[in-house]
Amino acid sequence: MIRTAVIPVAGLGTRFLPATKAIPKEMIPIIDKPTIQYIVEEAVESGIEHIVFITGRNKSAIANHFDYHPELETHLREKNKMDELKGVRDLVSRAHFSFVRQNEPRGLGHAVLCARHLIGKNENFAVLLGDDVIDAQVPALRQMMDVHEEKQAPVLALQKIPWEQVSKYGVVAGEHVSRSVLKLSGLVEKPKLEDAPSDLVIIGRYILSYEIFDFIEETNADGTGEIQLTNALRQYRDLYGLLFQGKRYDAGNKLDYLRATVEFALKREEFREPFSAYLKNLFPNK
Ligand code: UTP
Repeated sequence: MIRTAVIPVAGLGTRFLPATKAIPKEMIPIIDKPTIQYIVEEAVESGIEHIVFITGRNKSAIANHFDYHPELETHLREKNKMDELKGVRDLVSRAHFSFVRQNEPRGLGHAVLCARHLIGKNENFAVLLGDDVIDAQVPALRQMMDVHEEKQAPVLALQKIPWEQVSKYGVVAGEHVSRSVLKLSGLVEKPKLEDAPSDLVIIGRYILSYEIFDFIEETNADGTGEIQLTNALRQYRDLYGLLFQGKRYDAGNKLDYLRATVEFALKREEFREPFSAYLKNLFPNK
């Protein structure tokens, strides 16, 4: 059973400046919910009971968001705003939240290493990145847990992307063992187009074992001074990838963030009609 999820949120969020100068990138909302809440909801709905945030400077809003707010709750109760009360309280009561500081942003691998003392030696755990918001009927992490239970090995979430984009990602080589599961034989971080082994890339969901911490410690920093998680993952002998069912949005990318906002709005009962009417009006000839 996987009960703990590590969520690194210590990055500087430079792609979303100036918004992220004083506000954590993860607190930027898609409609009315911070992106990080979509990620935590996915984790909790997958069965996670303990969330470990790897945080840095300027990230206290995240800790406040996942804490009770007695004054606000009393106010909402007095005004009989029970839906709003549920919205601010429910998720907080469904998991335990821990916070570990990453003193300097030395890369995703280093961020994950910061959680070492909170993970049991025989424990498997999940890592979720706040940038990747996944809209799925069965939560993407749950789908990965099912593969993990079957294979008893670490599992990465994979996505097929257009070839010209592979250089932005960690890319895998592997063989299908079923329609959606691959046994992986190689990983390359941000390869040149001509060196990419496939068009299947690692996105921000991982199920890992405690061993990963030793692998990260043995991993050298790359040219930019960062310790890449992908380079540490390469040491696993037995590693699987899952082409999950669902739609992923890279909320750290402005265009994808806009897409997520529009598509999530169209899924909401209260906005579906007026918002699609508005969109149709914007493009009357389409
Ligand atoms: P990114 O590189 O996408 O996030 O790292 P960033 O650095 O915040 O954003 P940009 O690129 O400058 O806009 C992926 C995830 O890993 C975390 C980030 O917070 C993000 O969720 N991260 C990255 C850390 O926690 N520590 C690091 O040292 C690096």
